[in-house]
Amino acid sequence: MCGIVGFVGKHQAAPILLEGLSKLEYRGYDSAGIAVRDGDKKAEVVKATGRLKNLEEKTDDGKAVVGSCGIGHTRWATHGGPSQTNAHPHVSGNCSGSASGTVESDVVGVHNGIIENYQELKEKLLKHGYEFYSETDTEVAIKLIDYYYKKYKVGPIDAIAKTMVRVRGSYALEVMFADYPNEIYVARKDSPMIIGVTDGETFIASDVPAILNRTKNVYYIGNNEMARLVAGQAEFYDLNGDQIEKELVEIKFDVESAEKGGYEHFMMKEIHEQPKVVRDTFNSLYKNGTVDLSEVGLTEEDIKGFSGVCFVACGSAWHVGMAAAYVIEDLAKMPVRVELASEFRYRKPVIDKNMLVVVISQSGETADSLAALREAKARGNKVLAIVNVVGSSIAREADYVLYTLAGPEISVATTKAYSCQLMATYMLALELGVVRGELSQEKCAEYLSELEQIPECIEKILDDKERLQWFAAKFANVKDVFFIGRGIDYAISLEGSLKMKEISYIHSEAYAAGELKHGTISLIEDGTLVIGVLGQDDLYEKTISNMVECKARGAYLMGLTAYGHYEIEDTADFVSYIPKMDGHFIGSLLVIPLQLLGYYISVARGLDVDKPRNLAKSVTVE
Ligand code: G6P
Repeated sequence: MCGIVGFVGKHQAAPILLEGLSKLEYRGYDSAGIAVRDGDKKAEVVKATGRLKNLEEKTDDGKAVVGSCGIGHTRWATHGGPSQTNAHPHVSGNCSGSASGTVESDVVGVHNGIIENYQELKEKLLKHGYEFYSETDTEVAIKLIDYYYKKYKVGPIDAIAKTMVRVRGSYALEVMFADYPNEIYVARKDSPMIIGVTDGETFIASDVPAILNRTKNVYYIGNNEMARLVAGQAEFYDLNGDQIEKELVEIKFDVESAEKGGYEHFMMKEIHEQPKVVRDTFNSLYKNGTVDLSEVGLTEEDIKGFSGVCFVACGSAWHVGMAAAYVIEDLAKMPVRVELASEFRYRKPVIDKNMLVVVISQSGETADSLAALREAKARGNKVLAIVNVVGSSIAREADYVLYTLAGPEISVATTKAYSCQLMATYMLALELGVVRGELSQEKCAEYLSELEQIPECIEKILDDKERLQWFAAKFANVKDVFFIGRGIDYAISLEGSLKMKEISYIHSEAYAAGELKHGTISLIEDGTLVIGVLGQDDLYEKTISNMVECKARGAYLMGLTAYGHYEIEDTADFVSYIPKMDGHFIGSLLVIPLQLLGYYISVARGLDVDKPRNLAKSVTVE
């Protein structure tokens, strides 16, 4: 969480920093700040609480802050509440709490991540005469750099290296030293950071969209590495302070994919991109009429050696694992486990060494998923990453990488990345099934032609979205929503419920329909909205029975099912239909009306759809 940007070059830094931050606001949005230097003058720091527009107003869109070297930050509070004092940048001196002004400090910096041992370090620094104005862990890190810088009279790289050895936790850190004008120093461990270089200019950002319209040529700075950045150049260093070589990589995303393109919200734009990106993801894994995972690196030999699959992920990515488990168990007849990364990493799970661990992550930077990946590797398991962001930490550390081709996803609530992840797991399931002899080539070909239909079917659902908009307006003030389903329908209910609660702030729960009567049904009262997800033909009547039980207790019933099941109108008060599809893959269609419902209810309630309160897109803290 938190987004960082930096710039050194020929232009004025502040407007570039603000523009970059506006693309990263999805990472955190409770306060923002910049520090800019004009040649060898002291840095000027400006901060504002609330959304970025407050900082833009305060700096006259950056025009009021002069200088061509600077750093910026948008915050998602961890240590210390959202306030001007706790907002970044932080400084080595005694005050950066003011709204704006020139800072006398020798070191000024911004940070994304968490310094876990900051209390212990703070005590050490207090003994050495440092005073603290904020409650943040970042202020401690900046002061520690200052301490080593002065104590050992070393250059910036050595001072940062000594700090890196002392701190525990995660960081993407940007620092400017008063003695080194027109230079920015950065360090990274477990928090994302990329460095873009173009003719005479250098950019730093937490994520690609922040610099996409400036350059597509980036360096990926690795874990425990540092860099010295000057206009148009980057030098990299390891923890010993020795210089290391890096290759410039070209990013494939195009600029438009990170813009709203006429839609009111990124979420709606991303919902509409699903047919294309799901098709792209399918095509990238489909060659000569069959599944081809050669680019992923998974050989037939590897697959034959796996005893099962263990999905590990967070949030919606975990929901993908939940749906995929049903598909793989049925098509490849392999045992499947689905684990929450935050639990897996600490539970000391007993998993067979030959299980393939599959980490699913849009950002490739989720702290818990990354830690789970490392845990699995340390246990000797092979790890496949299903990741959207190229070059992300999870992609780099996995044994095999399957890239989803969703493009940049900006809305905090995921839609298109989720759909691409589902597609990726279907292709994996088919390949596992064929290689292990559980699925004939003919049956696989049949399934593949079904998968090819998904993008077109999604388009059809999107064409009919107005009915859902009408329904959402009617239920915008509902208090509780329950999503129920069985099998894959249950996995999709989990996602539908998350979409609803995260952007509309309406309490919602997803239940395996058969489980309802073991407690939850006592919550059903007059007017409670119950959404029955009915994609599995063999379980259809069972779930209908559970819906009827809710209706008998006053619930208003919405049914979500395939065209043809018109008899549902005898039971449900409102029905949303989707095209027919094989039950293994129908989740890809069922989820679309649920995304739309969450979206429209959020809009009807006048909420900030793309940036829901308290959330951040990329959760780089545990
Ligand atoms: C956050 C996002 C979710 C996402 C989850 C996991 O909570 O809001 O949309 O599913 O993180 O993120 P990842 O990047 O690992 O997929």
